[in-house]
Amino acid sequence: MTTDGGAPSNLVVAASSAILASAATYYFVSRISLSEKGDVAAKTKSQQGNPDKKENEQLGPAKSPETQYELNLRGKIDRIYEQHGPKPFEFDNEVVSVFDDMVSRSVPLYCEVIDLAIYWFEKYYVPGTKVYDLGCSTGTTLDVLARASKTLVNETNNPCQFVGIDNSEAMVSACREKLEWATEDNIVDIRCGDIIEAGILNASFVIMNYTLQFVPVARRQELLQSISSGLNPGGILLLSEKVRAECSELQETCTWIYEDFKERRKYTKREIARKKEALMNVLVPFTEGELRSALSSAGFDNVEIVAKWNNFTSFVAWKSPRLPVTITGKNGMHQKKDPPTKIVTPNLDALFDTFPVYLDDYLEPKLLSLVCRQRMEIFADKGFKAGSMSNDTLQKFNAIAEMIQKLPQLESDTFIVDQDELFIGDPKELTEDEMATFQQCINALKPWKKGPLRLFGTKIDTEWRSDLKWERLQRALPELKDAVICDLGCGNGYFMYRMLEYSPKLVIGIDPNLHAWLEFKLFQRIRSVDNLKFEYMRGDMMASLPLVFDVVFCLGVLYHTPDPMTMLKDIHKSMKPKSVSSTNTMVYHIVQVSTVCMFEKFLVSQQ
Ligand SMILES: C[S@@+](CC[C@H](N)C(=O)[O-])C[C@H]1O[C@@H](n2cnc3c(N)ncnc32)[C@H](O)[C@@H]1O
Repeated sequence: MTTDGGAPSNLVVAASSAILASAATYYFVSRISLSEKGDVAAKTKSQQGNPDKKENEQLGPAKSPETQYELNLRGKIDRIYEQHGPKPFEFDNEVVSVFDDMVSRSVPLYCEVIDLAIYWFEKYYVPGTKVYDLGCSTGTTLDVLARASKTLVNETNNPCQFVGIDNSEAMVSACREKLEWATEDNIVDIRCGDIIEAGILNASFVIMNYTLQFVPVARRQELLQSISSGLNPGGILLLSEKVRAECSELQETCTWIYEDFKERRKYTKREIARKKEALMNVLVPFTEGELRSALSSAGFDNVEIVAKWNNFTSFVAWKSPRLPVTITGKNGMHQKKDPPTKIVTPNLDALFDTFPVYLDDYLEPKLLSLVCRQRMEIFADKGFKAGSMSNDTLQKFNAIAEMIQKLPQLESDTFIVDQDELFIGDPKELTEDEMATFQQCINALKPWKKGPLRLFGTKIDTEWRSDLKWERLQRALPELKDAVICDLGCGNGYFMYRMLEYSPKLVIGIDPNLHAWLEFKLFQRIRSVDNLKFEYMRGDMMASLPLVFDVVFCLGVLYHTPDPMTMLKDIHKSMKPKSVSSTNTMVYHIVQVSTVCMFEKFLVSQQ
């Protein structure tokens, strides 16, 4: 195959090696073709008469040492951003036609990472399982691995099964063409679709190179979770990403170095600037910390960086088989004990909103990523303290989460919150099956605490008359209109719904109770309210949300807290000063505590 004006197939490619400007000093022999001078568009015998030949020659000659596998890079030289100005970057026909050249000239260590993949594959592939390449693009990695598999695992008579998935039709057709030889052998299955919905199964090795960064931030955890669930214990994920430095100044330096890298790869300054603009908000990198924390929340026990060039980082994440640990008994004898088995809770995880995008408006980026990490860790821990929630309980909650997910996302027409009852849904809105699932959910969530509630006509027998408490509070409520409110210890969020009648801007409920969190998730399933958010957190996380809230409700929580003074301090930190007069700046914070006593706290700052 030749792409329009492109190089013929099976171009022997010089690697995009990391060290390349005066690369005569750098040289290593790997299992795939690498050159002494890492320019991608190597001159090959087969390029004679190729329209891109001259351009390719300018990019430098290739030297191909003894290797086992050659990178099969096709297509023409990438000059897209020389030709026109930026538009948001897409993996469309134009990009696909030059993709192999683009990726190998733009991604440091591109070739080396594929080379590493062969080793990890060789070590961790288990016969009879599958190997996935998520975001496989034109199939370069798959092609190398599939060829390697023929020599590495052919003893077993059990051919390795590769699955490549990409949601760009143009990529998929280029990939199918590149791997025609392997599809005929029936060892490769190339699918066009969203990797989030891929349904990974029975995998021992998953590769996802430079793709997560293009997946919407809000869905990344779900994707990592599905990879982890689809990997068999002992399986490996090879994940490569462009990561963002934590420190903005160091990030700027990384960008400067990277731009020089691209210039040395014969991209002009104009091309570099235009591509950078085109990728803005399309390629959204995580920091290394964010990736590690997302991987750990998804159930990967061990994560190692196996390649790194400035921001370009490759991780190997291992879903380790659970090995017994040896502990020393009182009598000095070694006893073998199975470590507590962490149970998998995919349905609970699917309901967890990994990235609270809404907090973006309230926290500076560094703090936001810290909060994201903390809340992910806390959620992954579910019971907060290892062992504080039994596996049976977690399993039960996971089953309830599954039921909730079976309900369609309804926007129920009947939604009344300014009466005593929180009244959502008309029974007519549900089919018989949905009603049965709904009834299962409410039964499974018994005992309900905060109420009264009437959901789809069913009166829920709640233990508490929270409406009476609300009635007392209403007599002394501060201004809630357009306020950013926290309900600390919100339970299922009953009061949050009651606050809606005052048109707040945002109400964040905080509660470390998974049961209450699920009740709230059920409310949101039948009638979502955008400005109500529930954070499964401890009260001490308030300190991580500085100057966010106008009003904090802390109702019946302090007396449960071992350290109420610290909690009050944390609440104080989380509140923003309110200027009520232009001459005398009076700052007041209101903390409302308990139903019986209501305290208002006024702080007056001196000018
Ligand atoms: C930078 S490329 C990946 C490069 C490739 N892994 C390699 O090493 O050569 C990103 C690829 O991910 C694909 N992609 C992005 N988001 C996707 C999604 N949600 N589902 C499937 N493919 C996706 C794009 O179409 C593109 O082909």
